Amino acid sequence: MFAIIGASGNVGRSTSSALRQAGMPVRAIVRDSAKGAPLRELGCEVAVADLQNPASLEKAICDADTVQVILPLRPLVKDPAGDLSLSGTSIIHALRQTRPSRVLAISDYGAHVSENIGMPSIFHEFESLLHTVESYKLILRSAEHMHNWGRVIPVALSSGTLPTFQDPIEMVLPTISAQDLGLIAARLLLRPQSGSDLDIVHAEGPRRYSASDVATALSELSGRTIHAHAVPRSQWKSAFEQLPTSLADLLIKANDAKNKGGLVDVEPNADEVIYGTTELIEALKRFTNSPHNSQNLGRL
Ligand SMILES: NC(=O)c1ccc[n+]([C@@H]2O[C@H](COP(=O)([O-])OP(=O)(O)OC[C@H]3O[C@@H](n4cnc5c(N)ncnc54)[C@H](OP(=O)(O)O)[C@@H]3O)[C@@H](O)[C@H]2O)c1
Repeated sequence: MFAIIGASGNVGRSTSSALRQAGMPVRAIVRDSAKGAPLRELGCEVAVADLQNPASLEKAICDADTVQVILPLRPLVKDPAGDLSLSGTSIIHALRQTRPSRVLAISDYGAHVSENIGMPSIFHEFESLLHTVESYKLILRSAEHMHNWGRVIPVALSSGTLPTFQDPIEMVLPTISAQDLGLIAARLLLRPQSGSDLDIVHAEGPRRYSASDVATALSELSGRTIHAHAVPRSQWKSAFEQLPTSLADLLIKANDAKNKGGLVDVEPNADEVIYGTTELIEALKRFTNSPHNSQNLGRL
């Protein structure tokens, strides 16, 4: 049995669907039973559990051989950083109690870095906790998701300017479609297990893109000229002021690290990098077709 946490999300849904297509038994774990219907249609068994309730999580994964875990950001809670830590601790507790033979954990580019670089450091901590779980661990570090751009696309379409914290705007960064990430996770779960008790794999898209590339893709999709504009560093604090303080801090530090270069990236001497196939322009299409879709903010 493959138990997939966050099965109603972009990555979990994609993994669940690919595993079902391969004929595997999948238990889709959702926190809202109403979101289980499309997963049932795929042939998944559906279980309801909240990540922050270890008892419900243990019940949902107790007889699974393989568990795929995510650490989802909830940007609207009062303290998103504290909330991520709480979810991480709860997941680890449930895994220690149930000891599945294999755990695939979605992590973040830059999680290998020991200094505090914001969001990736949350995953640095999460990976350290995972090491204490007595299962075979497959850590799948993901590049930034392409759909994160959805948050600023309505502004870009209406004003012709795409605001970005990526500076310089020509700097290319790794990014991946969340659906490709889910497919890569499924492919990893379907291949024979390596002999070691821990493997780390990085996943990014077919090429790296700059903020200018995003603006060019949006120009092509919308038919109007859009330019990228780097928000000056001195204005970042006010740009993030509507977000909870701990989330603003995670994002500011992560953006500083990205702009510094070489940190939010593949770990030096990493064993394996897998490349998705979805190009940025494909991933952005749905946002230009219906700006309302930009409500799906991903991780911001
Ligand atoms: N976005 C990025 O750039 C990025 C980069 C690197 C890594 N990642 C990681 O990739 C992971 C997967 O991303 P995604 O696109 O699939 O995210 P997503 O579409 O936002 O899905 C998150 C999933 O987690 C579920 N969930 C949230 N809180 C929960 C809780 N307390 N208990 C149970 N389930 C809960 C959600 O359920 P509902 O549907 O009920 O809300 C949803 O199914 C994220 O967790 C993130 O850590 C993201």
